[in-house]
Amino acid sequence: MKQPTMKSKEFDSELFRKRIIKIQKKLKKGEILILFAASHKIRNRDVEYKFRQNSDFYYLTGIKEEDSIFILTSDSAGMFCLPKDKEKEIWTGIRLGKDKIKSMLGLDYTYDLSEWEKQKSAILIDHHTLYYFFGENPERDREILQEIKTLSERAREGKFGPHRIEHPHFLHEERLTKSKEEIQILKNASEITKFGHMRIMRESKPGMYEYELEALLEQEYLKYGSIGGGYGHIVASGQNACILHYVNNDDLLLEGDLVLVDSGAEWNYYTADVTRVFPVGKKFSEAQKTIYEVVLYAQKNAIRQSIAGVPFNDVHDKTVRFLADCLREMGFLKGNLEEIIEKQTFKKFYMHRTGHYLGMDVHDVGRYFLDGKSRPLKDGQVVTVEPGLYFDPNDESIPKEFRGIGIRIEDDILINGKEPINLTESIPKEIVEIEALKA
Ligand code: GLY
Ligand code: MN
Ligand code: MN
Repeated sequence: MKQPTMKSKEFDSELFRKRIIKIQKKLKKGEILILFAASHKIRNRDVEYKFRQNSDFYYLTGIKEEDSIFILTSDSAGMFCLPKDKEKEIWTGIRLGKDKIKSMLGLDYTYDLSEWEKQKSAILIDHHTLYYFFGENPERDREILQEIKTLSERAREGKFGPHRIEHPHFLHEERLTKSKEEIQILKNASEITKFGHMRIMRESKPGMYEYELEALLEQEYLKYGSIGGGYGHIVASGQNACILHYVNNDDLLLEGDLVLVDSGAEWNYYTADVTRVFPVGKKFSEAQKTIYEVVLYAQKNAIRQSIAGVPFNDVHDKTVRFLADCLREMGFLKGNLEEIIEKQTFKKFYMHRTGHYLGMDVHDVGRYFLDGKSRPLKDGQVVTVEPGLYFDPNDESIPKEFRGIGIRIEDDILINGKEPINLTESIPKEIVEIEALKA
């Protein structure tokens, strides 16, 4: 098996310096960007969740330490960082410290975090516009608003603080279009994801539990240097597949059931997002096959339609039309197609969207609408294509053999002119391929 390229332990100063300079060029005099790093979060009592840096903070600085604060204006860049502390470092690991961070990123200034309280007024003053991700952290929001109020009280001295808070959309625009290097990272994440999905397709059998499949996914991901799933693994057997964000993963796998697995490895801060559905036993039933083939056909069509210049919504709208028409022809929906679309009765079977941007965050950043119109897809964007059909297990108007079937098929697509590139293509999704793997 091909091993994904190993992650480098070296800090890529040039990459992050370039990113900072690029974003800095978007700022005019009087504008200031503040980014807060993630903080540790308590899981229970004094146990913390595993730390992961905030994606925006990492994208721009490459610094993985908690609570740091990055400040950027049109003519300066600086950071407040965790202080070097011998005692603390014995418990929780080496900290870079302000001198090292300053030279790694070529910053104009760095301070220990303890300086933030004293310095923040001076940092914000005389900037009319603050770019800040409002709404992510209520404590920081309060702090920022308080500081703005304090500064507004200094008007008599001829001083002013920000009177506008803007969403730093330019940073998310940068993240939305992936560079060659980012695409390579996503390819590695996809490759690792493939190992996980293929392993559980092969090894799942009646009598196992959903969490055993979850364990095998994690094992494969960690084996290749991933930190694990980029989001919670969904391992949903039988009718659990009809719960879109199923999290329990604790049911028994039964002969005759399918299992829907929505899982992607996060590698080097980028995640894949893949869904496959396969029989617990060796073969799909006729009813399962019928629905699976419809979704697969819809998915392949939607991938082909994911070309540069096409509004992202069109891919969804066309997929909805296709699935609705199939549901009508199969007798699951009454009325003509236009009525079904207008009244949205298809939502009983297809209630989510066909895709989203993908990158450092599974539901990645970037605007879907510009001037009220769905935004055209563009080269370098990565999107998911993930149609599905779900048949309510308790709906007696649905023929019994279809009740509880939930199918979603999801791949990660790099927009590339008229030739979309499926980054997760090598993860089997044809019925014959899956049944051959299980045989
Ligand atoms: N795994 C979340 C999603 O497919 O959107
Ligand atoms: Mn998805
Ligand atoms: Mn998914």
